[in-house]
Amino acid sequence: MNVLLCGDFDAAEQAAWQQALAAAMPEARWWTLAEARARPAEVQAAVVANPPPGSLQGLPALRLIQSLWAGVDRLLADATLPAGVPLARMVDPAMNAAMAETALWATLALQRDFFAYARQQRQGRWQQHAQRRADEWPVLVLGQGEMGRAVARALVGMGFPVSGWSRTAGPADPGVTRIAGEAALWQALPRARVLINLLPLTAQTTGLLDARLLAALPRGAGVVNLARGRHVVDADLLAALDSGQVGHAVLDVFHAEPLPPAHPFWTHERVTVLPHVAAQTDERSAAAVAVANLRAARDGGSLRHLVQRERGY
Ligand code: NAP
Ligand code: GLV
Repeated sequence: MNVLLCGDFDAAEQAAWQQALAAAMPEARWWTLAEARARPAEVQAAVVANPPPGSLQGLPALRLIQSLWAGVDRLLADATLPAGVPLARMVDPAMNAAMAETALWATLALQRDFFAYARQQRQGRWQQHAQRRADEWPVLVLGQGEMGRAVARALVGMGFPVSGWSRTAGPADPGVTRIAGEAALWQALPRARVLINLLPLTAQTTGLLDARLLAALPRGAGVVNLARGRHVVDADLLAALDSGQVGHAVLDVFHAEPLPPAHPFWTHERVTVLPHVAAQTDERSAAAVAVANLRAARDGGSLRHLVQRERGY
């Protein structure tokens, strides 16, 4: 099988992925974009990480596009993405576990005022705040897919009351209150001390975290965005932080990445900035996930984690 490997990688990342994938599937030939362009009719599959737009057009034998990213919004924004070719996204338990760690850290830091203590340290201020219990600190997780469910389960394990919101009603994990639809969201928001966003970026979810939604939270709530920057209306979040409506925001993702040096999030004392690291794709496990799908494509088996392009995730 001839597989194009391309993405938004530097040379070292390309080499590391090539090595991991070749170790998992030694019988395949792994081609760079330049090599694939020299023999387009022979490319049978592509393993991609947000490749430059246009990379996947003109490959007539392509039978699978396997993303190394969980979110496929940038891929789907490429109008030249071949329409009839199955597109699979990355679903890897190691990534879900990493996301659960990030969300748990952020929630614990919000509940126990650790971000406030970090601010106080910078000011040389010794001041104790009342200690709050996890069971009195409700968390609302937007998205109950792979990531959102892993996060909700981890939070339940720490004793937080957790609600998980999704588009369609699905099975609830033990201890998680599963809610679906817009009305249920607006009912849940006023109780949520912490709001964690793990939605895919689609036409419906772009800009969801705006002034109206933030105003529905209880005063001083924490906002944790681990999904995509464009879910948030930055100016609305900044206004809510400045007014105290939002107590602190933990932001891993931004409209433009890297976050531009002059962006007010960098210096806002109630914002914690992470450089899009909430759950990085782990080559060691993700290569095996990708290869299982490549072999299924080659052998006529069933493909896993296919994106429904019309719904956008
Ligand atoms: P997923 O398994 O596809 O789950 C998506 C969830 O969002 C589903 O529960 C879905 O509802 C829900 N949803 C979609 N549209 C909705 C809407 N309009 N209203 C309400 N709920 C909606 O995705 P995932 O693997 O959990 O990943 C989620 C996102 O995390 C990715 O798309 C990516 O943007 C982000 N991510 C970030 C990082 C990072 O490092 N920061 C790493 C990986 C992923 P249904 O269950 O009803 O379909
Ligand atoms: C990271 O943001 C991903 O979608 O995998």
